[in-house]
Amino acid sequence: MPQQNNYDVLIIGSGGAGLSLALKLADQRKVVVLSKFELTEGSTFYAQGGISAVLDSQESSIDSHIKDTLISGAGLCDPEIVRLSVEYGKKSIDFLHQQGMEFTECQNKAGESELHLNQEGGHSERRIVHHADATGKELSLSLIEQAKQHPNITLLEHHNAVDLITTQQQDPQEKRILGAYVLNTKTKQVKTIAANNVAIATGGANKVYLYTTNPQISTGDGIALAWRAGCRIANMEFMQFHPTCLYHPDGHSFLISEAVRGEGGRLMLPDGSAFMHEYDPRAELAPRDIVARAIDHQIKKHGLDCVFLDISYKPADFIKSHFPSIYKRCLQLNIDITKEPIPVVPAAHYTCGGVMTDSYANTDIKGLYALGEVAHTGLHGANRMASNSLLECLVFADRASEDILRQEPNRTAVEIPDWDESQVIDSEEEVMIAHNWDELRRFMWDYVGIVRSNQRLKRAEHRLDLLKNEVADYYQHYRISSDLLELRNLLIVADLIIQSALTRKESRGLHYTQDHPTLDNSQPPQNTILTPPKYIPNTDHA
Ligand code: FAD
Ligand code: SIN
Repeated sequence: MPQQNNYDVLIIGSGGAGLSLALKLADQRKVVVLSKFELTEGSTFYAQGGISAVLDSQESSIDSHIKDTLISGAGLCDPEIVRLSVEYGKKSIDFLHQQGMEFTECQNKAGESELHLNQEGGHSERRIVHHADATGKELSLSLIEQAKQHPNITLLEHHNAVDLITTQQQDPQEKRILGAYVLNTKTKQVKTIAANNVAIATGGANKVYLYTTNPQISTGDGIALAWRAGCRIANMEFMQFHPTCLYHPDGHSFLISEAVRGEGGRLMLPDGSAFMHEYDPRAELAPRDIVARAIDHQIKKHGLDCVFLDISYKPADFIKSHFPSIYKRCLQLNIDITKEPIPVVPAAHYTCGGVMTDSYANTDIKGLYALGEVAHTGLHGANRMASNSLLECLVFADRASEDILRQEPNRTAVEIPDWDESQVIDSEEEVMIAHNWDELRRFMWDYVGIVRSNQRLKRAEHRLDLLKNEVADYYQHYRISSDLLELRNLLIVADLIIQSALTRKESRGLHYTQDHPTLDNSQPPQNTILTPPKYIPNTDHA
């Protein structure tokens, strides 16, 4: 039936990317922002170390940030996108200042106040602006406060985007976005939201692994939505494992920021011996892929549960003022980081690949944008450098807004089929969903983790096929729930990761396989681009 567009732009996601875009559009467009749970619940809120941004206008500082990003990206960054992003650094921080965000300051040699800069792995200089060790919380709360006050922004919490709605052409490049079906997880009703532009800002997919630093929402929904609608997805083999997640039965998912290593934190074995110098001359400040693999190697070699990160040799006041949240959280678990080392393990942290976009965040479908962790812009290559992610959210929010504002607003009613629940019944076997979630995350951790092999990937592929059939059948017959939607999306993401990993016949950046343990220098580095089959039904319920 004809659906009236009540909004100009539908933004799926209320993290750094989604809310920045909303705020940049709202003076000229009517915007609705969806959030799967509460507005704060996304990776943005949990970000610790900060935002990498060159604040001075010196060409050498810009060049150095570009160079470090390209090195971390192991030959697969798009140099033009890297330059564009790095050059947006100051503008991005100015935008956050305007939203009321506060940053940690210090006094320079002349006694003047200036922004304090962190250093993290892969960075050859201090260039990371931050709010102590809780940068994401300050950023999120500032943006949410501004968005709540804007009359043109509607914020819908507990609204889960089920599927995108597009025109029906077979060729994605001829399709136009029309809106999305959205499940209100409180009322259990599915509604249709029509909009002339839709932006996917749903964050990453790291819940596909058993151990992750990410919150519950990071189930790769946006990647799966875009794939089902016909968009290409790139470089999914490059899943980033953060080297230092707290290892404690009650400290589930808690990150120990890379800034701790930036301030001199040393990695060591239980006997106190250092090991990072055996792997890389930059030791603790090597890029993440190298540090995570080194820890994984030491854990397996010595049969350990974890390694240790020690900052306790620094003055207690310094530790408490630089890392107040980490100090407090560890102390709650009886670890006093001013006196003892922190037990740490690697955990899935960031999705470097994603929905392919151009430099204005356009996807393959007209009117559909992707930005933030869900997108593949070309900035991160085979391994994202620390603190470049929040920068990317801000840069591409700006670029997408520029592109959207160039177009004429259009609220013409469009023909959209109603959501159809006539063929489904309430599920009597929710246990199937919980069991399959668990099984998926376990075999992804065991077979598609930090160190891969063809045999492990094939094992994962086989198990995945069984789950895919079971869940497809279940989805057709039973009423949807958030858990089912997330599982359905995670299965697509897992498939994309496995297929991409099987395609890459070399080890590069975050993708390490025992069957091809070195770089393939015989040809120029290639992105892994997967194209959806010509027609996959967007949804089984319309
Ligand atoms: P998110 O902030 O994850 O937001 C996603 C949003 O999408 C949420 O609102 C969610 O509810 C919504 N959503 C998802 N699916 C749906 C759906 N189906 N329907 C409706 N809504 C949906 N990066 C840095 O640069 N610096 C750091 O210091 C840093 N520290 C980090 C620390 C931790 C612990 C973690 C986990 C990540 C860190 N990162 C850091 C990475 C960075 O935080 C993320 O990449 C970035 O915040 C992603 O922002 P986003 O807006 O794309 O997604
Ligand atoms: C951290 O603080 O270590 C996280 C930084 C990032 O993921 O960019």
